[in-house]
Amino acid sequence: MGQIELKQVTKSFGNTQVIPPLDLTIHEGEFTVFVGPSGCGKSTLLRLIAGLEDISSGHIEIDGTDATSLVPAKRGLAMVFQSYALYPHMSVRKNIAFPLKMAKMDQAEIDKRVNAAAEVLNLKDYIDRRPGQLSGGQRQRVAIGRAIVREPSAFLFDEPLSNLDAALRVGMRLEISELHKRLKTTMVYVTHDQVEAMTMADKIVVLQAGVIEQIGSPLELYRTPRNVFVAGFIGSPKMNLITGEEAAKYDAHTIGVRPEHIDVVDGEGEWNGTVGVAEHLGSDTFFHIHNTGLGEMLTVRAIGDVSLKHGDKIGLNPRKNEMHRFDAAGLRIA
Ligand SMILES: Nc1ncnc2c1ncn2[C@@H]1O[C@H](COP(=O)(O)OP(=O)(O)O)[C@@H](O)[C@H]1O
Ligand SMILES: [Mg+2]
Repeated sequence: MGQIELKQVTKSFGNTQVIPPLDLTIHEGEFTVFVGPSGCGKSTLLRLIAGLEDISSGHIEIDGTDATSLVPAKRGLAMVFQSYALYPHMSVRKNIAFPLKMAKMDQAEIDKRVNAAAEVLNLKDYIDRRPGQLSGGQRQRVAIGRAIVREPSAFLFDEPLSNLDAALRVGMRLEISELHKRLKTTMVYVTHDQVEAMTMADKIVVLQAGVIEQIGSPLELYRTPRNVFVAGFIGSPKMNLITGEEAAKYDAHTIGVRPEHIDVVDGEGEWNGTVGVAEHLGSDTFFHIHNTGLGEMLTVRAIGDVSLKHGDKIGLNPRKNEMHRFDAAGLRIA
């Protein structure tokens, strides 16, 4: 259960087509992340799957059955909304039970499902509290609990962590990943944050302007981005992309080297420049380097604390075997 297939799906708002014909298979049990810049159509795509928006053309199949014209409630999917959608006057128990009450489910079955959800989400000690008496992370768990009790064939998440502060976001990210490992239910998760995508996904779908740029595991996208867009989007800090004479040396229009694939050397290197900003994180040092003659500012990651500072000369050797090459159309050269 939980295989979702999009076949030649399009979506237009008025005369504006935001999703050109799109094919995509989300496999049973997979954690799939849609990632891309703001406005690229991630939420629209998720809402089409949920049935909250009608598709303009094409078909959506869920577990082999045409679901194109099914209302959301009949699709067997659960959308997880942000925690502020909780009812403030209801206890955690009542909030979680709410969709089952609405469906007029038998009380004994409701209790069973709510207790099981509270157990899996570590909410048992808070079950009689109201949302106002919970932390942000606990509230988010209640929102997820409300989806779990419906026993959906897939969970759909639309940027559920974007309102949380950075530390909480990292914690919840782990919790949702753990939950997926335990439930093994299909999850489709939308985010603009490529770090979230990289850390959570089995499979990442990179979108730009409604078009799928690449589908792959996090490491497939990291190692073999199929075009310049994916190369620049996946990875933090960003891959250095260099055009012009230097790229021509490698028979490419653009060469790409990740910051972690450029070594800082003593004295002169193959590339040389001056340090603009040095970011000392302790575990790593990020250098932003000017005056390399390569046309772009370079970002370089050195392991540990390297004591070069603003204005210092720096010599660099890019690792040739880690270099990516792209043609004039921006496509990867094998
Ligand atoms: N209801 C709507 N009416 C008109 N345009 C919309 C509507 N919803 C989304 N759009 C447009 O569709 C595009 C994709 O939006 P969206 O799916 O929300 O992007 P994302 O979630 O990736 O930020 C945007 O250009 C947005 O302005
Ligand atoms: Mg969105």
